[in-house]
Amino acid sequence: MSVNGSPAGRVAVVTGGGSGIGAAVAEHLGAAGHRVAVLDVNGDAAESVAERLRGDGVEALAATVDVADRTSVDKAAGVVREKFGPIEILVTSAGIEAQTPFTEIPAHEWDRLIAVNLTGTFNTTQSMIPDMLAGGWGRIVTISSSSAQSGAPERAHYVASKGGVIALTKALAFEYSPQGITANTIPPSIIATPMAEAGVAAGHIPKLEDLAMMTPVRRSGLPEDIAAAATFLCSDHAGFITGQVIGVNGGWYI
Ligand SMILES: NC(=O)c1ccc[n+]([C@@H]2O[C@H](COP(=O)([O-])OP(=O)(O)OC[C@H]3O[C@@H](n4cnc5c(N)ncnc54)[C@H](O)[C@@H]3O)[C@@H](O)[C@H]2O)c1
Repeated sequence: MSVNGSPAGRVAVVTGGGSGIGAAVAEHLGAAGHRVAVLDVNGDAAESVAERLRGDGVEALAATVDVADRTSVDKAAGVVREKFGPIEILVTSAGIEAQTPFTEIPAHEWDRLIAVNLTGTFNTTQSMIPDMLAGGWGRIVTISSSSAQSGAPERAHYVASKGGVIALTKALAFEYSPQGITANTIPPSIIATPMAEAGVAAGHIPKLEDLAMMTPVRRSGLPEDIAAAATFLCSDHAGFITGQVIGVNGGWYI
C-alpha cells in the first residue's frame, strides 16, 4: 500500500506541534497516513491537537517537552519509540521570538532564543536521528525563518538563531543523505499563527491584511501552506531533495 508516496505510514514527530505551523504539520502528516507524535512545551495544547487527530482516525500521541532541555527531549523520544516504534520523520517547529533593539538584548534573552530555536533543533535531531540511521531512511524538515534570509530589525537573536537552523540543516543533509536521510528547511515569511498575531498586537509587525496586500500572491500565508510543503518533503517522492532552503512565502523572497 502506498500512502502519499510512502510504502506505509511512518512514525513522525512534530515539535511545537501544539500550535500554529506545527499543529498544521501534525494534521497534514496524519492525513498522509503517518503516526504522529505531537511534542510541545505546552502539554495541554499538544494533547488537544493529538486528540483532534485521533478523532480523524489518525494514530497520534502527545508529549510535553522543552526542546532546550536534552533530558526532556530524550524522554519524549523514548515515549514515541515505546508507543509507535523508531522515529522516521522529524519536523522541528518549536520556536520562540522576541523583539528588542540590538544594544538592549539582555544576555538571558539571547541565550533563551538560541537555546530553544537552535539548540532545540540540535537536541531533537541528535536524539532522534539514530532511529533513522538504523532504518536507513529518514526525513528531517526544520522550520527556520525568512528573516534569516533577509535580516530583520531588532531581532538579531531570533535572526541569528534561525540562520543557525538553516546552516545546521545543510550540514545534516551533507552528513546523512548518503544514508537515506534527507534534511531540508522551510523559512516561512509571516504566517497567520498565534506567534504572528502576538507580533501584530505588540506593534512589531504590520497587520496581516496589510502584509497580504504587499505579498505577490496577495494573501496571508497560512499554517497549511507550510504544512503541505513539509509533508511533501517528508514523503518518498522528495528523496532527491536535500540540503535545500524551500521558500514558502507567497513570492516575497524569490
Ligand atoms: N508565524 C510566523 O510568521 C513564522 C515566520 C517564520 C518562522 N516561524 C517559525 O515557525 C515555527 C512555528 O511558529 P508558529 O508561528 O507556529 O508559532 P506558535 O507560537 O503558534 O507555535 C510555536 C509552538 O512552539 C512551542 N514551543 C515554544 N517553546 C518551546 C520549547 N522550548 N519546547 C517545545 N515547544 C516549544 C509553543 O508552545 C507553541 O506551541 C517557529 O519556529 C517560528 O519561529 C514562524
